[in-house]
Amino acid sequence: MNLTDRIVVVTGGAGGIGAALSRRFAAEGAAAVVIADLDGDAARAVAEGIGPLAHAKALDVTDEDQVRALVDDTERRYGRIDLFCANAGVTTGGGVEVDDAGWDRAWRVNVLAHVYSARAVLPGMLARGGGHLLHTCSAAGVLTAVGDAAYTATKHASVGFAEWLAITYRDRGIRVSALCPQGVDTPMLADGIVEGHLGARVIAASGAVLTPDQVADATIAGLAEERFLILPHPEVADYARRRAEDPDGWQAGLRKLVRRLTA
Ligand SMILES: NC(=O)c1ccc[n+]([C@@H]2O[C@H](COP(=O)([O-])OP(=O)(O)OC[C@H]3O[C@@H](n4cnc5c(N)ncnc54)[C@H](O)[C@@H]3O)[C@@H](O)[C@H]2O)c1
Repeated sequence: MNLTDRIVVVTGGAGGIGAALSRRFAAEGAAAVVIADLDGDAARAVAEGIGPLAHAKALDVTDEDQVRALVDDTERRYGRIDLFCANAGVTTGGGVEVDDAGWDRAWRVNVLAHVYSARAVLPGMLARGGGHLLHTCSAAGVLTAVGDAAYTATKHASVGFAEWLAITYRDRGIRVSALCPQGVDTPMLADGIVEGHLGARVIAASGAVLTPDQVADATIAGLAEERFLILPHPEVADYARRRAEDPDGWQAGLRKLVRRLTA
């Protein structure tokens, strides 16, 4: 897919990776970019910075009625959605002690919201014979987010769901991409690094921390090649291969890294 004249929706577009994707899609020639986020004021600020082709929508991606309304309104206004980016995501910063409300929130934002948007956009895309779903998952979805159990489990689920969609719908014209960055300099990671959280320190020690614009560059390249797995940090492919070939050795290496960082 190239972005010229495309109608695009980005959830979690008020900041970080979603804002960078929104700006980049507009710069690449999209006809409209709809920026949806829990933080409506911040989404409006991003839209105003882009210009008249961008629109903001305040919504909670975990509310299926609101996601359906977003899709219906966009299709009514522009006639179609070419690219839907399910990008909103949350961390918990904890392990098994995180309460059920924390696990539930991670499940709803990181996984169920992807189901809601796919459910809402697929009928129109299938009827038109094409469309692209971009799901922001994480390297945590193919590896592990040390320090965050619910993030790891739900991001693995999000990669699994994206792969299921890709296999099920590819022959009917639907392209699916799973965007799996490792460390990216957004509020999600930056706060953890400043506060010295173990998970953030492991990420910083495992490879480069990219800017959101660098993630947008990798995304544009991945979309152009209609690639399923978009890895802004190419080393993640090597880590995933090592993990698959030797799970015990891979875990031993990570434990060693954690011991070194906490010594
Ligand atoms: N920053 C990283 O290191 C990193 C690495 C890999 C993957 N990711 C993923 O990238 C995506 C974007 O994260 P980011 O780093 O830009 O973080 P961020 O916190 O800057 O942005 C996340 C956005 O999602 C919005 N959001 C959260 N819950 C929502 C909800 N229920 N409804 C609507 N919007 C909601 C927030 O308001 C925020 O604007 C997430 O899915 C995250 O898991 C981030």
